[in-house]
Amino acid sequence: MKHFISLIDLTSHELSGLLAEAVRLKAAHARGVPIRSLSGKVVGLIFEKPSLRTRVSFESGIAQLGGTALYLPGNEVGLGWRETHADFARTIGQYLDALVLRVYSHKTVEGVAQASSIPVINGLSDWSHPCQALADLLTIQELFGSVEGRTVAFVGDGNNVARSLAVGCGRLGVRFVLACPIGYGFDDTFRDNYRKHVSEDFPAEVNNAVAAVKNADVIYTDVWTSMGQEAEREERLKRFESFQVNAELLAKAPPQCKVLHCLPAHRGEEITDDVMDGPASAVFQQAGNRLHTQKAVLEWLLK
Ligand code: CP
Ligand code: NVA
Repeated sequence: MKHFISLIDLTSHELSGLLAEAVRLKAAHARGVPIRSLSGKVVGLIFEKPSLRTRVSFESGIAQLGGTALYLPGNEVGLGWRETHADFARTIGQYLDALVLRVYSHKTVEGVAQASSIPVINGLSDWSHPCQALADLLTIQELFGSVEGRTVAFVGDGNNVARSLAVGCGRLGVRFVLACPIGYGFDDTFRDNYRKHVSEDFPAEVNNAVAAVKNADVIYTDVWTSMGQEAEREERLKRFESFQVNAELLAKAPPQCKVLHCLPAHRGEEITDDVMDGPASAVFQQAGNRLHTQKAVLEWLLK
């Protein structure tokens, strides 16, 4: 059974194929050409955490492709507490054609997928956010014509969004450098996985934002306090203080440098208003691309 849980499971060829299909779907959508590749399919969206982009882009994308989306709050269907992940998967798999999960623990996605007879899509876990990374790569491709050979400086937390983007970049020949406070970089498990499945050449990690952006085509940031980490907020605000993406930092990057953010942004923390709303920012183009890349993922899994 094919799932979309981590970009590490996809080959470079599969990843490029998804981007190419997303380009095709985006162009067809812009021209108003109807595509009904999900006709008759029902996709469940089970979310344990809030979401704007992931939920709405999946629901709209499924509708646009002629399928039906069913949104189910995780608590209501009892994901993780009412029955085992395996019992849950074996039941729901008989009602649906695919399942999108947004969860606290990555183990939930893995546990459901293991017993699932239908494709499972990771719509964000504490470990990874592959749907986001795919849209990020499409955005970089649109901004620069191609992704290969570009440099992404991720300034912020070495968390779910950073891990997925690092893998996507590694697969497609994009240099990735992480700038973060000591203790907030990539962990050993990720390091081992990356070396085993992506490349021996692990992304560089620096503890200085200016050093990271010097040769960057893209500066990327994410919130300093992710969903589920709220108790650490005060500590994180202090630790990440010198990793804000602001005009001063952007001025240290090459003039063609663009700024990306997965959103939602905590304006005034990891990114300032002037940068987010300024000419280098492509964050809303990036958010829009979630629709097209996820439609490509759904087709890849269901067609
Ligand atoms: N970037 C992202 O996944 O946004 P949501 O949390 O709004 O889905
Ligand atoms: N790192 C953030 C991403 C939100 C899309 C979080 O997990 O909350």
